[in-house]
Amino acid sequence: MNLQDQVILVTGGTSGIGAACTELFARNGAKVIAASIQEEAGRELANRLNAAGHRCEFQYCDTSREADVKATVEMAVAKFGRLDAVHANAGVLRTQKITDLTVEDFHILFNVNVLGPALICKYAVPVMERQGQGVICFTTSVAAEIGFPAHGVYGATKAAIVALMRSLVTDHSPHGVRFVAVSPGTIDTPMLAASCAGWDKPREAIYADVAQRIPVRRLGQPIDVANTVAFLLSDQAGFINGSVVYLEGGTRCLPPW
Ligand SMILES: NC(=O)c1ccc[n+]([C@@H]2O[C@H](COP(=O)([O-])OP(=O)(O)OC[C@H]3O[C@@H](n4cnc5c(N)ncnc54)[C@H](O)[C@@H]3O)[C@@H](O)[C@H]2O)c1
Repeated sequence: MNLQDQVILVTGGTSGIGAACTELFARNGAKVIAASIQEEAGRELANRLNAAGHRCEFQYCDTSREADVKATVEMAVAKFGRLDAVHANAGVLRTQKITDLTVEDFHILFNVNVLGPALICKYAVPVMERQGQGVICFTTSVAAEIGFPAHGVYGATKAAIVALMRSLVTDHSPHGVRFVAVSPGTIDTPMLAASCAGWDKPREAIYADVAQRIPVRRLGQPIDVANTVAFLLSDQAGFINGSVVYLEGGTRCLPPW
């Protein structure tokens, strides 16, 4: 994959999957804008990469706020002159059965996981169309397709992203913009660790049990996702459009018994 001098915006680019993407893209020569609500982690990551001779800017951006998203896209273009790619990756997880649903959690899930990527597209797509090229990668989830317990609303947000992507292909790919998605399974990140709170076993024991249920017998690592996104954003993936790439070690292939 060749990302040399590509200007890439990564939302949620300061933790877990997004941080691995920021780091991998920067190490492959890209100019990366890591955007999130994690000021301290963002500045540390950018400082570390810049000190090593790479190019990374942290930008505070609550992706559920239109003004923040607009300012972030404008900052990328003002600073680097263009915007070649976006990884719309920021997301939140809330787990509860529908009988315990709070409207507040529903709004947080849809605002960050659906409105956020939609706003990113609203402001990034016109820039890319003016350039005549660009690519946007979404992070969906296998929870869009598998009925994980207490994941109903989260799964609904992730299914919504795929529907959004398909329509954007129809509207904007004729003007040079590609749209792709990665669908991770169980990836070892702070979000996954937080989801273990309240279980009756230590996190390591839960992870070991889960790994035994995955055909490749391990959890995914953020770098597994980053390697795939780097390829999808590169010109080598130029004919991949509207596709979802599953990164779940083969779990979806298992028989239902
Ligand atoms: N870890 C998994 O197993 C897994 C599986 C499938 C999908 N995903 C998805 O992958 C993406 C990354 O998750 P992760 O596991 O790396 O989690 P993480 O919690 O480590 O990272 C989430 C990132 O999103 C950012 N974020 C949260 N709310 C935000 C907001 N309002 N505005 C801007 N940034 C915000 C956080 O600051 C953080 O940088 C999410 O979209 C998540 O739903 C994760």
